[in-house]
Amino acid sequence: MSAKLFANEDTIDALIVQMSIQQKIGQLVQTERMAVSAEEVAQYHIGSVLSGGGSWPGDNRVEDWVAMNEAYWQATMKPSAARVNIPIIYGVDAVHGHNNVQGATIFPHNIGLGAANDPDLMHRIAQATAREILATGVDWTFAPTIAVAKDAHWGRMYESYGETPEIASGLVGPVVQGLQGALDDDSVAACLKHWVGDGGTRAGIDQGDTSVTWDELNEAHITPYLAGLQAGALSVMVSFSSWNRRKCHGHRFLITDYLKGTLGFGGVVISDWDGIDYLSKDYPEAIAQGLNAGIDVFMVSENWREFLRAMEDLIAAGVVSMTRLDDAVRRMLRLKFALGLFHKPSPALRKWSNSSCFGSDAHRQVAREAVRKSLVLLKNSNSILPLNRSARILVAGKSAHNIANQCGGFTIGWQGVPSQDGLIGSTTIWEAIKACAPNAQFSHAGLGQEANQDLHDVALVVIGETPYAEGFGDIRANDNAVIETGSQVQGLMKVLQPYGQSLHLAQLHPEDLACIKTIVAQGVPVVAVMLSGRPLVVTPELALADGFVAAWLPGSEGAGVADVLFGDADFSACLSFSWMSDEAGTGQARVEAANLFPAGYGLTYAGEVTD
Ligand code: BGC
Repeated sequence: MSAKLFANEDTIDALIVQMSIQQKIGQLVQTERMAVSAEEVAQYHIGSVLSGGGSWPGDNRVEDWVAMNEAYWQATMKPSAARVNIPIIYGVDAVHGHNNVQGATIFPHNIGLGAANDPDLMHRIAQATAREILATGVDWTFAPTIAVAKDAHWGRMYESYGETPEIASGLVGPVVQGLQGALDDDSVAACLKHWVGDGGTRAGIDQGDTSVTWDELNEAHITPYLAGLQAGALSVMVSFSSWNRRKCHGHRFLITDYLKGTLGFGGVVISDWDGIDYLSKDYPEAIAQGLNAGIDVFMVSENWREFLRAMEDLIAAGVVSMTRLDDAVRRMLRLKFALGLFHKPSPALRKWSNSSCFGSDAHRQVAREAVRKSLVLLKNSNSILPLNRSARILVAGKSAHNIANQCGGFTIGWQGVPSQDGLIGSTTIWEAIKACAPNAQFSHAGLGQEANQDLHDVALVVIGETPYAEGFGDIRANDNAVIETGSQVQGLMKVLQPYGQSLHLAQLHPEDLACIKTIVAQGVPVVAVMLSGRPLVVTPELALADGFVAAWLPGSEGAGVADVLFGDADFSACLSFSWMSDEAGTGQARVEAANLFPAGYGLTYAGEVTD
């Protein structure tokens, strides 16, 4: 834990003494920008505001964000006899770059970065992301996600670095350091999420139940937090999921006793989005459970008025103690002091405000490098790769020229780039190929019908998933698993419409296999590049293609894919998740199916990747 976090304890003591109950309670609230005006933030002493996925001010330009943050800040810092001035802090999900904002550099999602497994690169990505965040007047990102995903059915697998805790443990430190730096003008607060066991839920159900022993939880899911806390992460977000049927949001042992007690975490524990609502149907009761479990700041999407009222009643009734309230307030003030918010000028006047580093070439170069380093080569028969720049390449597949599929969820919109919108400054894979291979031809319908042995030496087919986030990305054959889990979880569960019913790509997206078949039938060999947030069962696609590349969700820099396909750089990544040949099966058959390509597998132009 950073020494700077505790550097202002005397000042904080003095502030707390001057704060009214209302002002203290206000510091515990983080609400969504659409639910609160600058005037209300000042009047009700709201401590923090966030952008939920897909929520942006004005036309979503950098200057719109700065103007919004300036207005919130000015409102909270206007001298008033009614309160002490406490600067607002604004939070976003900058999980692969400052991904809510038009024109941001979009880095690969964590699954690709886990395959790259390059701590120095992670530090540079986090630093670039911090600067783009600061350019918009924002100070806090809800990242990194250090979930250890255990089941590809989970819709958030792409937010995870790998299936074992080692990779996340090695990468989280550089990310936290890159974001927070020396806690000066170049810093934003990091948030480790989701505490804890989010990646271990049964059947990969988002927000479900992780039923494991303490030792298993500790070893598999808590381990990366140790490195993140060691690096000085200023905040931790609680998981929607449950541990052995008990919701993490109400889990006093996990939050207060273990995280804050045993691990000595002195920063802010923030709830997830309305996360306490699932503890009880009775809202005051849910708040009391959450606060008494150890949550300090409550992400309340809209209900902040009700929250403030209920908290006052809970304090008056002694259900929540002043000591707990003061502790929560203290932690929020520590965060603000650690970031220097009490001393910094207003957002519009800060060092990086409106900086031209936002979406700059320099940042895009880092992202392009990350793409190059994240691609995993699974098959290269007849040395079909690297491609020759002068070859007659047919570029087909629905994702060859599709920035939404390239970026995945949490990009501009919560569920990904709204379909008709582009992403300013980005490059699709087709655009990157076109720029350097003069004889390449684009299959306009994407279906490969133009394939012709006399006209094409090779086809590049870009296939895979379409964007999703959170529970909308879950895959399940039917609802039995959800019903079973839901019936065992204490409290309520939010269950979303799943992405599909099977991990077989041919079932999820039959158009991909059809496209490959059409081309192969014409005698043109195929290199398949798959964009996906998880390994999928691709047995038929893999059999038909001579080359197969897992490109994950590479983000805005499609040129990184072209760099490697043309051999300017070699493949260097290897799987951080084992890749299955089939979804079902039992016993030994299941074990074998789960390991078509074991974690650690990856080819290079010279052979297998070796560490
Ligand atoms: C997600 C969090 C995210 C929050 C705020 C929730 O739905 O689970 O990861 O930080 O929304 O957008």
